[in-house]
Amino acid sequence: MAGRSVVVGVGHYLPKRIVPNSEFEKTLDTSDEWIRTRSGIERRHFAAEDETTSDMATQAAKAALADAGLTADDIDAIVLATSTADLTFPSAATMVQANLGMTRGFAFDVQAVCAGFVFALANANALILSGQAKRILVIGAETFSRIMDWSDRTTCVLFGDGAGALVLEAQEGAGTPADRGILATDLHSDGRFKDLLYVDGGVSTRTTGYLRMQGNQVFRHAVEKLAATATTALDRAGLTSGDVDWIVPHQANIRIIQGTAKKLQLPMDNVVVTVQDHGNTSAASIPLALSVGKERGQIKPGDLIVTEAIGGGLAWGAVVMRW
Ligand code: UT7
Repeated sequence: MAGRSVVVGVGHYLPKRIVPNSEFEKTLDTSDEWIRTRSGIERRHFAAEDETTSDMATQAAKAALADAGLTADDIDAIVLATSTADLTFPSAATMVQANLGMTRGFAFDVQAVCAGFVFALANANALILSGQAKRILVIGAETFSRIMDWSDRTTCVLFGDGAGALVLEAQEGAGTPADRGILATDLHSDGRFKDLLYVDGGVSTRTTGYLRMQGNQVFRHAVEKLAATATTALDRAGLTSGDVDWIVPHQANIRIIQGTAKKLQLPMDNVVVTVQDHGNTSAASIPLALSVGKERGQIKPGDLIVTEAIGGGLAWGAVVMRW
């Protein structure tokens, strides 16, 4: 017997406003064709002026709770991955806690940029395995539209807003890779690469700042590091890529997604792809893809899933779970 963190609910929220690539042609020296072929992105959602990260996270959390047939009273903790919290503090997670009417348990944010949801899942899993919590809402939510430099064509066409959430529940498993739930996690960061992807402002430097990225440099690290972390996590679970039903990758660039699948020797038929509709929603992209993948009928109970992500830090990692 072994404790497992099992996904019992999933949901997402996307803001109403959808912006097609053609919109950027009006103000920038760019084209729908360039954006599609270099990134795979066709459109993205942007939050309304008065819509915040915690608003979107709350909607995604409600959808995940409804999917699980649970209420906020059943939840012991909220772990929210974001780099775009409403305020410097308190955490967006405590705002979601209040919005859900949850007056017990605890809530906190995790900041690992685009790898945030993988880090949040690994942390939530550890809290469940240590007995600290029985049910945890794990949320990824971002308003990256707020940190875009709209005059920088190399970044502003790539990102979008949204939120996704899972409910994890402590269950007993047999201790084998056939168990439902999280089977293995693998986390990394290397701060030597901090200049490849960062926001050039923050509280301690008394500025606000915009996202800056050396995209092609990040790209070079991505495929290699993502395939390696996915392989390590699978190995830790006693599995190989041949056992995988779905790769649910961070949705930054279709070429990174394809390159990673190829390195793992899996066809694109085994990959959940949403980048065309959402753009890069940072920590929200994996829970959004899990929710959409389930809605599409791709992800089914018992399927073996590998999620993997890389982003600012650089920080990267993977989680292997059976749905
Ligand atoms: O989620 C966090 C992690 N982030 C990522 O994983 C992003 C990783 N990087 C990428 O997805 C890709 O590197 C990009 C999509 C950002 C760029 O694609 P690329 O094939 O690496 O292009 P590049 O940066 O090497 O740029 C090629 C050319 C440049 O022109 P020159 O120097 O060759 O004349 C750019 O100035 O494309 C130009 N360019 C554009 N042209 C039209 C850059 N952005 C645009 C644009 N429209 N929006």
